[in-house]
Amino acid sequence: MAFLSDAINRIKPSPTVAMTGRAAALKAEGRDIIALSAGEPDFDTPEHIRAAGKAAIDHGHTRYTTVDGIAELKRAICDKFARENGLDYTADQISVSSGGKQILFNALLATVNPGDEVIIPAPYWVSYPDIVALAGGTPVIVPCPAEDGFRLTPEALRAAITPRTKWLILNSPSNPSGAAYDAAQMKALTDVLLDFPQVWVLTDDIYEHLVFDGFTFVTPAQIEPRLKDRTLTMNGVSKAYAMTGWRIGYGAGPVALIRAMAKLQSQSTSNPSSISQYAALAALTGPQDYIDMSREAFQRRRDLVVDGLNDCPGLSCPVPQGAFYVYPSIADLIGTVSAGGTAITDDEAFANALLDETGVAIVFGAAFGLSPHFRVSYAASDDTLREAIARIRAFCEGCRPA
Ligand SMILES: Cc1ncc(COP(=O)(O)O)c(C=O)c1O
Repeated sequence: MAFLSDAINRIKPSPTVAMTGRAAALKAEGRDIIALSAGEPDFDTPEHIRAAGKAAIDHGHTRYTTVDGIAELKRAICDKFARENGLDYTADQISVSSGGKQILFNALLATVNPGDEVIIPAPYWVSYPDIVALAGGTPVIVPCPAEDGFRLTPEALRAAITPRTKWLILNSPSNPSGAAYDAAQMKALTDVLLDFPQVWVLTDDIYEHLVFDGFTFVTPAQIEPRLKDRTLTMNGVSKAYAMTGWRIGYGAGPVALIRAMAKLQSQSTSNPSSISQYAALAALTGPQDYIDMSREAFQRRRDLVVDGLNDCPGLSCPVPQGAFYVYPSIADLIGTVSAGGTAITDDEAFANALLDETGVAIVFGAAFGLSPHFRVSYAASDDTLREAIARIRAFCEGCRPA
């Protein structure tokens, strides 16, 4: 009898975590490494949120709480959805978890049966296909190339839907491409979904606040209220308030789904950290100026990185609408050989050679299901980004035809 389960053998470790780990190991050996592989804001959690976490400890909020979140936080989340998204939810339609990732995990494990299909536009966040596979479902990957702005088209969506389709996962702005759907683009997708009542929408809105150039963020249930009773709207405080380590995410959806997710959470992790819940409450109800500050900083860095990468021979970098990633193409470098002698056969070879020869860690596109690209996380200081771009440019200039 095999010791490891079939379920665990269906999934692989997160490639973004692996790349960040490889960069950290090289750094520990004394190499001069610039890691642009991790997906988290480089800012500190705002002071008033940190203070709320400390106060939670001092006030004795250190015990188990209701499994899927304290009432005050659920109320604050309802207010957030009403204030920012024009969505009316009641507290029994809200679930709070240890990160947005656990919301996705709970929702998919609670609903997906073997053979159920989940549509995932590529490039995708690395965890979606693996969580679907763990649940026994079938990820249906739909390529969304740069020519389509890395966005799912209504035609491609319609073609991907079958009688076994249970969910469509949407992520706008996207990790890894930064692409976001405007109201018309979102409406075109929700129009298709109206024709298929068995398909639910799982929308990952975690980068909601990181949109640039005046872009207006929209979410499916807001654009098409008739989809609200089959939509799970996921969000969290990790990226919006630089709180990745606090582990608080939340979801809003129909009561039956929310109850099933709470049941799963009650038999796995129980409540998310009580201290973090009070900090998240302060984040959602307190001053919101961090959001504008970080948006401005990330827009400036996006421009710096897009301009810099488009200056590198062989690279072409579209301008993303949001998040803190760019997803340039290396199509023109495929078939070359780097100055260090590595054949650039695909984006994984490019990423490994770039790390070995220049010390810059990025994540290759195959990890996100769309090649030949790589993801740069520009959640780093302007000086670090300038140095990284100089090294990437030197690397590209050194690539010669094979
Ligand atoms: C697209 C996307 N969704 C969800 C998450 C998970 O966020 P958390 O679990 O920290 O809330 C991430 C984190 O990298 C992400 O990039």
